Parts: sequence; C-alpha cells; structure tokens
Amino acid sequence: MSKPKLLLTRRWPREVERYLAGRYDVTLNKHDTPMDAPSLKAALAVFDAICPTVTDKLAAEVLAAASGGKTKILGNYGVGVSHIDLQACQRFGIVVTNTPGVLTEATAEIALTLMLMIARRAGEGERQVREHHWDGWAPTRMVGVDVTGKTLGLVGFGRIGQATARKAHHGFGMRVLYYSRKRATAEIEAATGGQHCARLEDLLQQSDFVSLHCPGGSETRHLLDASRLQRMKRSAFLINTARGEVVDEAALAEALRQKVIAGAGLDVYEHEPQVPEAFLGLENVVLLPHLGSATLETRVAMGMRVAGNLERFFAGLEPDDRVA
Ligand code: DGY
Repeated sequence: MSKPKLLLTRRWPREVERYLAGRYDVTLNKHDTPMDAPSLKAALAVFDAICPTVTDKLAAEVLAAASGGKTKILGNYGVGVSHIDLQACQRFGIVVTNTPGVLTEATAEIALTLMLMIARRAGEGERQVREHHWDGWAPTRMVGVDVTGKTLGLVGFGRIGQATARKAHHGFGMRVLYYSRKRATAEIEAATGGQHCARLEDLLQQSDFVSLHCPGGSETRHLLDASRLQRMKRSAFLINTARGEVVDEAALAEALRQKVIAGAGLDVYEHEPQVPEAFLGLENVVLLPHLGSATLETRVAMGMRVAGNLERFFAGLEPDDRVA
C-alpha cells in the first residue's frame, strides 16, 4: 500500500523529519520560507495531510481548494490555531489537530523573561553596553523596579497561564490574579496561587504586570485596546506571549509613548514578521521575535505530537488533539 503524501510547510527538527520520512511520503519546504496562498491551494489538491504552522494563513478562500482536493487533515505544528479558519475546515471535511501541553513550560519561561527584561531594563541596558554608551556603575542609573512580591494579572488561565502563575508565585513570591471565562478548580488555584477575578477591568486595575494567555482570533481581537490600557496602573507592564491581534498595537504604542503604562514586553505581533515602526524607537518596550516555543526540546516534542496525531488519524482513530 502506498504511503500517505505529507507536506511539512516549514523545516522541522531533523530527528522529527527523519521519523516522519520513515512513515510517509514526505515533501519538505526546502527553502523554509512561508507558503503563499497559491502554493497552499496547490498543496491542498495533492497532499493527503498538510502540517502547517503559524506562518501559513489558511483562510476559507484558501481552504476551499480542499473541496474536491485531497487533504483530509491539517496537523498544525503549534498550539495556537487562529491562522486556520476552523469553521471552513469543518465545512470542507478537514480534520485539524494542534500540539497542546508540550510547549507550556517554554512559553511560560518567555513570559517570565519578558517580565524580568522590561522591569529590570535589560534590553535597554544591553543596547547601552553594545553601543559603547555605558560609562560605569552609578547609584541612580538604569534603575528598574522589583518583580518579586508584585501582583501578576493573567488574562486567560489555560496550561500556559497556569505555568506562568506557578513560576511567578513560587519563584518570585508574586500575588497572582487571573481572568478567564471558567473559574479553575480549587486544586489548580492552590497549586498556582491564582485568585479568580470576575471582571477583566478589576484585574487590570490591580496588577503590576498584566500577561496575556488567551487564544487569538476574532473573539479576542484588540481585547487590550486604548480604554483597557487606560485602566492599567501607570506603573504597570503589559506582557504578550499569546497572539499579536489580542492587543491594539497602535493604541499600545501611543500608551507607551504617553507613559499611560510603564512598559511592555512583546513576543508576538498582529502582522508577523512586521513589527510596528512605532515600537522600534521606544526604550520602554522589549521586542522578541516569537520565541515562546523556541527550545530544541520543545520543538522536537511539538513535531512528535503532530506525528502522534497523524498516526491515529491514518489508523482510522480519533487524533488526541483534534480541534476541528
Ligand atoms: C504556538 O504553538 O501557538 C506558537 O505560538 C507557535 O505557533
């Protein structure tokens, strides 16, 4: 029997590519550049399975190529799926899976990295050193603020939010508030130190750091807009490791310029890889290039999670991480 035809839209860690090559008729994107709409449409016509990731925009218009085409499953490499129109997938009979669980700790580490970097002015300080502008230690220079003992407000309290809470509460003695549609169990609250906030506005008013951990997509687009940024303390920092579209970037740039809030740490942007020009000249924002899951261990685990989902699908079983 011929092996299913599988497309990886980007290069993956070598050991996962090898693993998949032993089981499928695998095509790799040799140039490792994001695929455009015409190439994705062409792929939907010929591959049994496609493994896309956050750089592939799979809107309804693109997915329509799968009706009468070949693709029956999208094994997404990543947990966030706001780049895929899930309703269109359902209409065209395409199964979609993601990779929950395996990138939790790595992404929480980046949230903490951003909190520490912005509060302790690490990006600014490193620029000073590299640009030969550092002229020595002084009691009043490059003074930031403590992270330890402050209040952290989490917007979204799934796996990554909870992992961030655990590290912040047990590692830095932080008081943790969270806002989410569903209140977590008493066990989770006890393990993370998380206290539920019924209103987002209350959490914004009380937090020294507001960290976003909700899914992206139309429901949360610009959840943090100009009026919500105004609700935050003037001394507070906004951290985003979720999805760029959750924040109104123009409003945030203005709030940072006007010192409506003290600073921000961003790992994600609405139109990646474009980073709004308005952020680039500001010292009170740390800008990372979507590093949340970027550790070798995590990227291998993500690939193996996709492999597990494909194996179950092609064996006629329900994949573990089906989202559509
Ligand atoms: C994720 O898994 O959602 C990461 O942000 C990469 O897409």
